[in-house]
Amino acid sequence: MTQHTALPETVGEARATGWWRDAVIYQVYPRSFADADGDGMGDLEGIRSRLPYLAELGVDAVWLSPFYASPQADAGYDVADYRAIDPMFGTLLDADALIRDAHELGLRIIVDLVPNHSSDQHEWFQRALREGPGSPARARYHFRPGKGADGSQPPNDWESIFGGPAWTRVEDGEWYLHLFAPEQPDFNWEHPAVADEFRSILRFWLDMGVDGFRVDVAHGLVKAEGLPDLGGADQLKLLGSDAMPFFDQDGVHDVYRSWRKILEEYDGDRIAVAEAWTPTVERTANYVRPDELHQAFNFQYLGTHWDAAELRSVIDNSLEAMRPVGAPATWVLSNHDVTRHATRFAHDQHLGTQIRDAGDRALGLRRARAATLLMLALPGSAYVYQGEELGLPDVTDLPDEVRQDPAYFRGAGQDGFRDGCRVPIPWTTGGTSYGFGPGGSWLPQPEVWGSLSVEAQTGDPDSTLELYRRALATRREHPDLGAGESVAWVDAPEGVLVLRRGAFVCTANVTGEPVRIPAPAGRVLLASGETPAVSGGEAVLAPDTTVWWSE
Ligand code: NOJ
Repeated sequence: MTQHTALPETVGEARATGWWRDAVIYQVYPRSFADADGDGMGDLEGIRSRLPYLAELGVDAVWLSPFYASPQADAGYDVADYRAIDPMFGTLLDADALIRDAHELGLRIIVDLVPNHSSDQHEWFQRALREGPGSPARARYHFRPGKGADGSQPPNDWESIFGGPAWTRVEDGEWYLHLFAPEQPDFNWEHPAVADEFRSILRFWLDMGVDGFRVDVAHGLVKAEGLPDLGGADQLKLLGSDAMPFFDQDGVHDVYRSWRKILEEYDGDRIAVAEAWTPTVERTANYVRPDELHQAFNFQYLGTHWDAAELRSVIDNSLEAMRPVGAPATWVLSNHDVTRHATRFAHDQHLGTQIRDAGDRALGLRRARAATLLMLALPGSAYVYQGEELGLPDVTDLPDEVRQDPAYFRGAGQDGFRDGCRVPIPWTTGGTSYGFGPGGSWLPQPEVWGSLSVEAQTGDPDSTLELYRRALATRREHPDLGAGESVAWVDAPEGVLVLRRGAFVCTANVTGEPVRIPAPAGRVLLASGETPAVSGGEAVLAPDTTVWWSE
């Protein structure tokens, strides 16, 4: 018996067009992808030299994390000049060459935009410091006098996402707001000059030929009127699950409506994807209403444990939440801020994303491969984080002295172990920094990197790299993969998911035991692990394995 998700497919499905609706987009973290000049830090020339690899992998677009001029207090998410490339990554000419080469290879380029805050070295902030309290320059950020008779208490009780107070006091006694590190002062988006400046920055990069933007902290730009106290609540616990006066305020949507108009002035279907951590998938859907942004990462899916019932419920809720606004779901399992999914799933207990030990690596990899095939079977777009196609685990044993994540140094911050997913990519089985570049590597690479390298995995049919290559090729060839806005669930034993779309069926055994199911019609297109044995109308699904079938 076939059971459908709650709502019928809508007219939205018929009207839906756009390359991004079912695109697979690959995240490049520039520091860690490929280093052409041998300074141990990745760069644009390095990325350019590896574009053929990405084209061959079969992705549609590449999202580049920030490469702008930056003191690197938060690995480039502290931008000092939004229209310049940091010399450590290259020049604007290099960016131009990269965009052109990508387009020639049929790859689109999405750049990161960081509108919530600048670097404290940005000329606007430096001017605000110089010109002092009450100056027009201060109004572009959130400066306030402190509380208490001598103003020595922060203006309110907000905490930084990286730990500690969200306010820092400057020499003249005023305080400024920074939801992240002190080197990342928050812009005041009520100020018209801020909105004007970002519209101009959008145009600068659109004129450079980029195909879109990933919007950093898209939920943070607008703060609640009067910057009200939270009142002693445990803020880190509330993040992502509750309404906050500094996140997901309704006013942010005016910003995105104005950006959508700019994107539409340009030809070529340019897009924006929101990094918006909201309490519910319904709130996430607000960012992708038809006159706002195009995609919003589905972080509820990223946070889901390896558990069939949980996965099914988040898939249903996500598709249902997106349907009324006509936007595709945007699936993601890993990025530069969370423990890689091969390590998250290496633990039997359900853990969050802050994991400090490697766990059972074989189990983690088996589940990660299965999770990826399940993700790539769903309707909508999917993001792949560099190195997940190699099945890379997090490096959980980095020595303290090499760590660079600012949150690590601020104590209780939520993301203090992000360096573990940022270790440079291994391209070759040996050699200097496993082919990352002719010099060293800004974070030490573990010995296992050689056997996980692109070179080691290429041509090995059992490797994770070849699994991704086949999966992406199959997704391109098969019209039912990634398409549409809904899935039909087929009844299955506990712990197993069976979903159908047209002639395509995906089975995921989310248990650690083999499970027998009625064999889906047709043949096996691809399996994340052992190919199922089919006989007498039954198929035996291997543990923690996803299989794609087609009539
Ligand atoms: C989200 C980015 O992905 C993360 O790396 C960064 O630290 C914060 N935003 C602040 O920009």
